[in-house]
Parts: sequence; structure tokens; C-alpha cells
Amino acid sequence: MPVQIIVGAQWGDEGKGKIVDHLSEKVDIVARYQGGANAGHTVVLPPRRADREKEFVLHLIPSGIFHSHVVCVIGNGVVLDPKALMDEINQLQTAGIDIKGRLLISHHAHLIMPYHKALDSIREQGNQKIGTTGRGIGPAYIDKYLRAGIRVVDLLDRDILCRKLKQNIEEKNELLRKVYNVRELDIDEIINEYQEFDKKIDEYITDTSEYLNNALRKKKFILAEGAQGALLDVDHGTYPYVTSSSPTSGGACTGLGIPPTSVRSIIGVAKAYSTRVGNGPFPTELDNDAGERLRTIGGEFGATTGRPRRCGWLDLVSLAYSVRVNGIQKIAVTKLDVLDDFDEIRVCTGYTLNGRKLSSFPTDVQTLEKIHPIYKNFRGWKTSTSGARRFKDLPGNARRYIEAIGKSLRTQIWMVSVGARRDQTIFVPGNRRGS
Ligand code: IMP
Repeated sequence: MPVQIIVGAQWGDEGKGKIVDHLSEKVDIVARYQGGANAGHTVVLPPRRADREKEFVLHLIPSGIFHSHVVCVIGNGVVLDPKALMDEINQLQTAGIDIKGRLLISHHAHLIMPYHKALDSIREQGNQKIGTTGRGIGPAYIDKYLRAGIRVVDLLDRDILCRKLKQNIEEKNELLRKVYNVRELDIDEIINEYQEFDKKIDEYITDTSEYLNNALRKKKFILAEGAQGALLDVDHGTYPYVTSSSPTSGGACTGLGIPPTSVRSIIGVAKAYSTRVGNGPFPTELDNDAGERLRTIGGEFGATTGRPRRCGWLDLVSLAYSVRVNGIQKIAVTKLDVLDDFDEIRVCTGYTLNGRKLSSFPTDVQTLEKIHPIYKNFRGWKTSTSGARRFKDLPGNARRYIEAIGKSLRTQIWMVSVGARRDQTIFVPGNRRGS
């Protein structure tokens, strides 16, 4: 049962890219199972000879691509923007990363079209602003579930592609004109553009579910890479302020076409504090100097949109919920070093509603907006942790902070990250490295 799933345990941006890059050393395949180019997974590569270290932000291609033995899969659960994909392929090739034979794209992934992006941005001008990334994600999933979507496989047959595109664009143009009163899209322009993509991505397209299941039979190790985070899950997140897919671990099986029985372990990635981009309730948000410091020190600006992220203290109530819905067995805590300079660090350990303590995380936004967080205070460690490489190198207060998180969640803290670089990684004693 060699599938390991990596999920974001909060509202996304937990630093999954670095963790997946690290785990990729020991796996054969890294497969992305949902979302689209709304994600931004950052990986910092060590310097090569005279070069400086290099930072890559991946939106679609799995973060395992930097390990030459790894095959990367974009699964059927992903909504694929071919233009964003081409940009990413070019970026990697320019940097000398050979992806030939190492990138496979599901023939059943749905395509993001220019009208999806147009509709995404129009909806965001309405009353119920979600604060989306504007990448057309919601409208593309709408078409998928409406059974009106265009899939990667359709790129392979010109007649089918033209027929489906024409029908879709005509329909969407009517919507744009009649309902939203905005400029229509040019049918021929879109048809020409998407026909060109066929030539460019043809070599990567395959039945990835079959490929992954064959790999499982050969006892290959697969890392299923989630995007966004559990609290943005369309079913289990803070609906409607969520993304339109299933970042929780359950999404890995449907998004890749692999059986649940193949899953061996589930790792949750959580920041040592909390952030959120876009709208929606955020119980521990800090609208003050401490929040501003977290944003500045942590570089908390969206990797995809550049938007400033909302920042706040760690929330153990929502994390416990995340552990539950995902079945998280081990946690990687990231960005501990961002807290290095704080005198006092607060952690939310409970919520009250109308003076009564709640027993679990309420996902309905009406309740969540009314709750009051209960905090426990930790003394800061006021010293740099970015050079620590062993758990015992961390200052006592930092160790106590990490241990308290594990204890409260009754979940093993497996790894602590103290910087963006590969070597700024600490394995917590008692856990096998990388297992
Ligand atoms: P969408 O996925 O672009 O439709 O955006 C829906 C919500 O999810 C918005 O609040 C976005 O800010 C948020 N979101 C989408 N992708 C990410 C991500 O990769 N990291 C953090 N938030 C995200």
C-alpha cells in the first residue's frame, strides 16, 4: 500500500512544496490530485556550482519535478489551464530541468477556458465575493459537474474539440451578453489557441489512473500532492469561502483514480501560525502589529496572486478538525523561524459561543463568525532557529511550543521546517526520517 498523501491542514500556503520536494527523494511518482493554477507551491533549490540558490513557484506541475528519478502526474481531478502549463514547462526547461518522459497528464482532466476566467472575475464583482484567485477554477468545476466540460482527451480530436468549443463558447457568450452585459469572446481565436495546445501537450497525455494502478502493482511509491488546504475544501471547509475541489485526503483517490486501500499514510502540513487569503471567517486573525509582523517576516504574500495574506495565531481547534477529516497521522510544522522574534506567542486552544465552550470546529460561517477564541500563551524564544538542524538544537521554548501542538492534537509532529531551503529541516526524534 505504497501511497502517501500530503495535505494542507489549514487554509493553504502551508509550505507543502518544500515538504513534497523533500519526500520526493524517496518516491517514484508524485501525483497532483485537485485544484488548478490557483495553487502556488514554492521550492527553493540549493545552489549549483557558481549559481545562487533558485526559487521556483509551481502552479500545476507537482513539486517532485526537481528530482530526476521522479515521474510527475497531473491527475484527472485537476482543472488544467494549458497556457499556465506551457509557461511552467518553459520555465523548467529554461532552467535546465529535463521533464521529457517525466510528466504525465490525465486524459480526463478538465480544461480551463478563457470564459471560465471571465466568469470567475465577473462573479467576484457581485455581492458574495469569495476572493478567488481569478484563475477560472470555480467555473471550470461547474462545467465539469454540469457534464458540459471540455477534457484534455478532447484536444486530441480536432472535430470533437471544435464542436465542443463552439457549443460552449456560444453558450457562455450568451451568458456574458445577456446576464452580465459584457463583451463576448472571440470563438475563432479560442479555437485556434486550443488547437495549438494539442500539438504542445500531446506527448504528456495518457490514462494516468491506469499508469498509477500499474505502478502500484509494481510496488512503486506514490506521493499524492494536495493543493490548497482542508479548510478550503468544498465539502469540509468554511463554505462558501472555499475552493471548488476536494483538497482533503479523500480527494486523492477520486482525483487520481486509485483505490483507498492503496493509501498507507497521510501527512498534514501546518504552519506554526495561521494565514488565509481571500474572504471568509478567520477566528485567530490579527488585525494589528503582531499580524503585520507575521506577514512581513513570513513573506506572507500569495505565491499566485501576490495578495497580502491575512495572518493570525495558530488555531488548534481548526487543526484538530483537519486532523479528523483528513485522517492525518503525522504533521510537518513549517515556518517556525517566523516566530523567532516574538516575546509571546499565542495559540488558540478552544472556542466559546455565547459564553459556552464549543466541543469542535463549526464549519458554518454564521457560527464561526460569532465565536471567541480561547488562547494559551507561550513564551517566545527570542533567538534564531534557522540554523537548527536537530530537534535538540532548538531553544527550549520552541521545543515546548512544538511538543504542545503534538500533544493537543494527539498527533505525531514528524518534521519542523525552519526556513525555505532543503537543509533547513528538522526531524523530530522518535520518527523515522522521511517515512
Ligand atoms: P479559487 O480556488 O481561485 O476559486 O479561490 C477560492 C478561495 O480559495 C479563495 O479564498 C482563494 O484565496 C483560496 N485559494 C485558492 N487557491 C489557494 C492556494 O493555493 N492557497 C491559499 N488559498 C487559496
